[in-house]
Amino acid sequence: MHGMTRRTMAWAAALFLMAAGCGDASTAQGPILVGEFGSLTGSEATFGQSTHNGIMLAIDEINASGGIAGRPLEVKTYDDEGKTQQAGTVVTRLVTQDKVVAILGEVASSLSIAGGRVAQQYGVPMISPSSTNAAVTEIGDKIFRVCFIDAFQGYVVARFATENLGARKVAVLYDQSAAYSKGLKDDFGKALTGMGGTVVTEAAYEKGASDFSAQLTAIRDLSPDAIFIPGYYTDVGNIALQARKLGMTVPLLGGDGWDSSKLAEIGGEAIEGAYYSNHYAPEETRPAVQKFVTAYQAKFGSVPDGLAALGYDAAHILADAMKRSPDLSGPALAQAIAATKDFPGVTGSITIDPQRNASKPAVMVQMKGGRPTWVATISPP
Ligand code: PHE
Repeated sequence: MHGMTRRTMAWAAALFLMAAGCGDASTAQGPILVGEFGSLTGSEATFGQSTHNGIMLAIDEINASGGIAGRPLEVKTYDDEGKTQQAGTVVTRLVTQDKVVAILGEVASSLSIAGGRVAQQYGVPMISPSSTNAAVTEIGDKIFRVCFIDAFQGYVVARFATENLGARKVAVLYDQSAAYSKGLKDDFGKALTGMGGTVVTEAAYEKGASDFSAQLTAIRDLSPDAIFIPGYYTDVGNIALQARKLGMTVPLLGGDGWDSSKLAEIGGEAIEGAYYSNHYAPEETRPAVQKFVTAYQAKFGSVPDGLAALGYDAAHILADAMKRSPDLSGPALAQAIAATKDFPGVTGSITIDPQRNASKPAVMVQMKGGRPTWVATISPP
């Protein structure tokens, strides 16, 4: 250090700081840490598992093609067990301990709301792959989603019920503990009424209940043309079993919350023929879908569901925004995500609107031989 002037010493210190990764994001080195929270266990376990697979497939692709300006993405994943309180806890951990630059999650809207409040509070951008309740992105300017919202999903199911099934009188059976279920029930009712139909009853159940016979017998007495059940797959499978046991043969309709390989495992014959709305169908011939289905099957040995497709799209959209962002600070990254336009996703072309939502077509599928089978694609009105 003897011969060094003051100025050269200052330069040496600055270079040292940069090399040590203490500079801004553009000079930092090493992996970029992204957080993920999801239900890897519990009654919605396939939601978290499928989403995680989709995310990891995307991360592999992103890293194989050079990462973000040469830096690989690394994912830190926590299981929230499908519990609201746990969702808040693990997002706090991602932000304060792991210091992730962005968060991917959740699936269930109630959990995205719980985790999203924490992410917003700390200014860390969060992208929900699949939460469809309006309140999720209303939390604030750091919370985004890459899926459609329930106002549209309610319209899709109402239109399908009216036009394809000729249903006029529809009974609704919903999960009163889930923001998703309550919201979708309302959106469906509004849409159906607007199309000249009637909701003949709104019966409620509690998530995880074992006996739905009181609600189902009350519904049977009203002899509706269809029953709409905006719930999650475990409850829906059990409801279908009990409805058929009560001799009810009326068509059953649902939303994206049915999307799980477990639905047919639980519901068996009772769920055959039932319809639900979803974000994509693996049979779609669009090149983005076929490329994804092939890569996913090669890696995981199963056909990807809608959650896997949305997790994959969410991770790719985050990486795309990181590449466009001047740095990885919360405000800059949120702005880059907000500017996402015409991104060619597996679940359709994705543009983030001023409310931080995406607008794209939905598919209606029918359970046939234990598998969801494409029936119709319905675009936003
Ligand atoms: N849309 C559901 C919710 O908001 C979650 C979900 C999405 C479930 C896609 C299955 C498939 O709670």
